[in-house]
Amino acid sequence: MCDGVSVRAIVAEAGTPIYIYSARAIREAYTAIDRAFAGYPHAIHYALKANSTLAIVRLLRSLGSRADANSGGEIRVAQRAGFEPREIVFTGVGKTYEELEHAIASGVGTINAESAGELDRIAGLAHAMGREARVALRVNPDIDAKSHPNISTGLKTNKFGVPIEEARAIYRERRQLKGLRFAGVHVHIGSQITTADPLRRAATVLVTLALELRDDGVPLEHVDLGGGLGIAYEGRPMITADEYAAAVLPELKRAGIPVVLEPGRAIVGHSGALVARVVDTKRYPNGRQFAVLDAGMTELMRPALYGSFHRIIPVSPRSAEESSWDVVGPICESSDVFGRDRILPPLEVDDLVAVLDTGAYGAVMASNYNRRPLAPEVLVDQGSWATIRRRQTIDDLLALEQ
Ligand SMILES: Cc1ncc(COP(=O)(O)O)c(C=O)c1O
Repeated sequence: MCDGVSVRAIVAEAGTPIYIYSARAIREAYTAIDRAFAGYPHAIHYALKANSTLAIVRLLRSLGSRADANSGGEIRVAQRAGFEPREIVFTGVGKTYEELEHAIASGVGTINAESAGELDRIAGLAHAMGREARVALRVNPDIDAKSHPNISTGLKTNKFGVPIEEARAIYRERRQLKGLRFAGVHVHIGSQITTADPLRRAATVLVTLALELRDDGVPLEHVDLGGGLGIAYEGRPMITADEYAAAVLPELKRAGIPVVLEPGRAIVGHSGALVARVVDTKRYPNGRQFAVLDAGMTELMRPALYGSFHRIIPVSPRSAEESSWDVVGPICESSDVFGRDRILPPLEVDDLVAVLDTGAYGAVMASNYNRRPLAPEVLVDQGSWATIRRRQTIDDLLALEQ
């Protein structure tokens, strides 16, 4: 069941593979972060990259969230979902002229610049358009987020931001530039961060810079701590929103400047499950058992990309002795494995399994490899469900081709 709604009933109508999301889970996760920071001026800019399906973005907007867009496409999706441009922060390495032009022309709230060169390009474009772009510089504090290397972004070996020791000079040298208004400072040291310490240290570095800039006559309107708050994929103890706030608030209070947060995973991660059907089972003489699903790395790339762990459960567990299973997808890649050596009840062809905690970085990372149409997404809310993205068809796929 998902919040009182039968998963079997959803699948009977909408098929597999399918993403099923709980609106309740999204509300609860958003509210937990909002409450944790309630005593301090803050704005939550939900990171659309985690899941940008329109209905999810609209739901977050209805809760009072603002938006963090990581591309021109995400800015447009945020606008379609009803966000005013001023409610959007535009982040991300490698913004094109077209993306910057659209962001400046539409009046995006803040552009988080990734380099001195990008600041100069923004200034040039904004000045030529007779605009003033509100910007924050993303700093790289050289802090180990202690997450998976592929989603750690705050080390000096990573491509993100400007080295912290250069940041003050970059602001100083550009404070008179026409077309720029320095609104804030930005940091994002990685995703799926599971302890408070790296987040606290990043806040310390950022607030210290903000105070130095104040001394330099560059008063800021906000400090942007990025996202990164982890979720418990494996059931191990996890930093809570309250613990996160308790770690960073004393730092923030040193400057008293409003804070911007860009959580993605912590808001939508737990809300989603990828439901798939067993299409084949195999037993090797060495005892290894495989359950082959009709979903794979094309629907959920995280296990193949980062070796990430997702709990896998049968939708209707059979009451018989459990044994070890490798739960795999149908793609011709040996990395197309959702879970190895999982202790599960017997699985048979046609059984349904749910891959849990796939609300973030799941559907958004899906691909059409092997000409597999994108899976549909449904949202369960208050006892009923609705399709929020229909299943892609082969005709949808071929519509782009001659
Ligand atoms: C700049 C920025 N902000 C926010 C996020 C959201 O991160 P998370 O989903 O870990 O909260 C990301 C994701 O990596 C990011 O790159």
